[in-house]
Amino acid sequence: MILHKFKNQADLDRAAADLIISTVRAKPNAVLGMATGGTPVGLYKEIVKSHQQGLVSFAQAKTFNLDEYVGLPITHPESYRAFMQRNLFDHIDINPANTHVPNGNAADVDAECRRYDEMMYEQGPVDLQLLGIGHNGHIGFNEPDTQLSRFTYKVTLKDETREANKRFFNSLDEVPTHAVTMGMGSIMQAKAILLVVKGAEKAAILDATLNGPITTQVPASLLQTHPRVIVMTDCDVEYKRQ
Ligand code: F6R
Repeated sequence: MILHKFKNQADLDRAAADLIISTVRAKPNAVLGMATGGTPVGLYKEIVKSHQQGLVSFAQAKTFNLDEYVGLPITHPESYRAFMQRNLFDHIDINPANTHVPNGNAADVDAECRRYDEMMYEQGPVDLQLLGIGHNGHIGFNEPDTQLSRFTYKVTLKDETREANKRFFNSLDEVPTHAVTMGMGSIMQAKAILLVVKGAEKAAILDATLNGPITTQVPASLLQTHPRVIVMTDCDVEYKRQ
């Protein structure tokens, strides 16, 4: 893993945006893995800025999002489809047909998970996968457990995850209990991974991710086995090579 530390979030957002932009400039039909949540909002703004300045085109790019809530209409502002439209897709020249977010409202969720995996298999691999991290070490919505899933699946969100995401809703009751998420296998198949970690309260889980044991109880620790992971953070952490 390569660790880049930043003094402030503005510099971090710019550097993360620049990595995504340079990926698309080098390969205009790049496949990008996208994330939602608080972490990428600033870097998406920087991407939009660069696009508006004519510095990057997404006309041939494809995107696959990590996850989507189950049972939240896509018209709900906190659905991850709505998030992506508002923060990125509506402001760049990507072909809407090339933007993929799992359908959390599919009548047959298992079939939807299979469809998503097949699409990623046919159109992938992902050139650059953007990740945030949960306080409990989840990536996508792969929550800590005794086992992790290789494939896209329907996950029961942990209480702490619903609690953390409560800030986007009016109350905890409104936070969906389930999500569809890419499995660890899809995430690990990406050619390169950009993990963005913001805020001092995530320093401990980032330290465990970088330096702790590789364990399903910290799903992000599996990234230690990936050949090309770039971590960008404003946390005060060190990468201790054993
Ligand atoms: C979002 C996702 C999650 C978030 C994580 C951190 O698509 O897959 O893993 O990256 O929950 O969320 P924030 O950025 O809101 O702290």
